[in-house]
Amino acid sequence: MNKLEVSSDTSAFEVPAVLDHNGRLTDHCVQQALAMMDTHGLVILTNLLSDDEADAGLQLIRQTIDDPDRNQCTFASETDNRYKRRDFCSLPSTPPVTDFAASLCQRLEGVLTEYCGRTRPLLEVITLTSYLGSSHQYIHRDPSGVISLLAAVENVSEQQGGTVFIPGTHLYAGAESKQGGQVHALMELFRLQCNCRILLHNLQKLWSMRQADRGSLAPGEFLDRVFSTKWDQHQPNLLRFLLGKNSQFSLRSLGPRTLWKLYRDREALKHRFRLVQTAPRKGTVILYRSDLLHAGPDNRSPHPRRFFGMSIARDIIEPKYWHDGYSPHPTLMAHPMSLGDLLDSRDLSRPDRRTAA
Ligand SMILES: [Fe+2]
Repeated sequence: MNKLEVSSDTSAFEVPAVLDHNGRLTDHCVQQALAMMDTHGLVILTNLLSDDEADAGLQLIRQTIDDPDRNQCTFASETDNRYKRRDFCSLPSTPPVTDFAASLCQRLEGVLTEYCGRTRPLLEVITLTSYLGSSHQYIHRDPSGVISLLAAVENVSEQQGGTVFIPGTHLYAGAESKQGGQVHALMELFRLQCNCRILLHNLQKLWSMRQADRGSLAPGEFLDRVFSTKWDQHQPNLLRFLLGKNSQFSLRSLGPRTLWKLYRDREALKHRFRLVQTAPRKGTVILYRSDLLHAGPDNRSPHPRRFFGMSIARDIIEPKYWHDGYSPHPTLMAHPMSLGDLLDSRDLSRPDRRTAA
């Protein structure tokens, strides 16, 4: 099995943010962003936040992570959370957090309202931090019918593990008619191929951490990540892989017919899809359709990787499905907010730069 091949060229998905006199994206910018979202499933808006705004976002993240009573997310790798390889947690609906979320929504109003009605709920406001030694997530789709946002509040290098995407794998009516009706089948094969490589990558990495003489694994961590019976969809857990207990990737998905198709379609897979890793600069905001194939890679640097994230529903959503797939803070559950609430919040735009002529 070959190594995971990842391109770091994201130029085809980038739109430089230009704001109008109200501090919103200009119409031209909105149209460019929508075209990216529709074609590729994501758009990378560079320089959407000023340095001061990004610093304010980072401050909110630090305050949350420093709180011993923070509300950790359940959807990500809980084992990584347990061993301090990741710290994914939701932000409380305090006035500064809500203001920050509202200012992002207001700046992106032209794009967000194309997909999400004003009454649609804010599903979560979170921070995604990963540390050295985390696992590379399996390639997955988040629950469908959601627009998600990742804001880089500081520069994120490839080594720190900017999110990887497989552009063009989002789902929409009639998409499967491409490639002679085979495109969804090919997508799933490509995902399997990537996940085989991610399993090996994670195992190799854990093994080298075990061999290292630097106490790089905590007591019990190796067993917990490779042979535990505990639920975790993003660890190289061989026990759950062999028993078919991991819905993201398990032996159950590698039957003889699938293996044959992986061999038969190897050339098409090589040319039809590609993994692209983002390495966003401070102030960049990534918007993506939740059903786009993606993953949070491992952090291979000693520097923590931090993102601010939020998600907004495109339709009504059952509370159980919502709480299974997203991590609203208890304060958000107690006082739900809609996209309209955030857009109608006091005008937070600061049209101090990049204003269109
Ligand atoms: Fe995800």
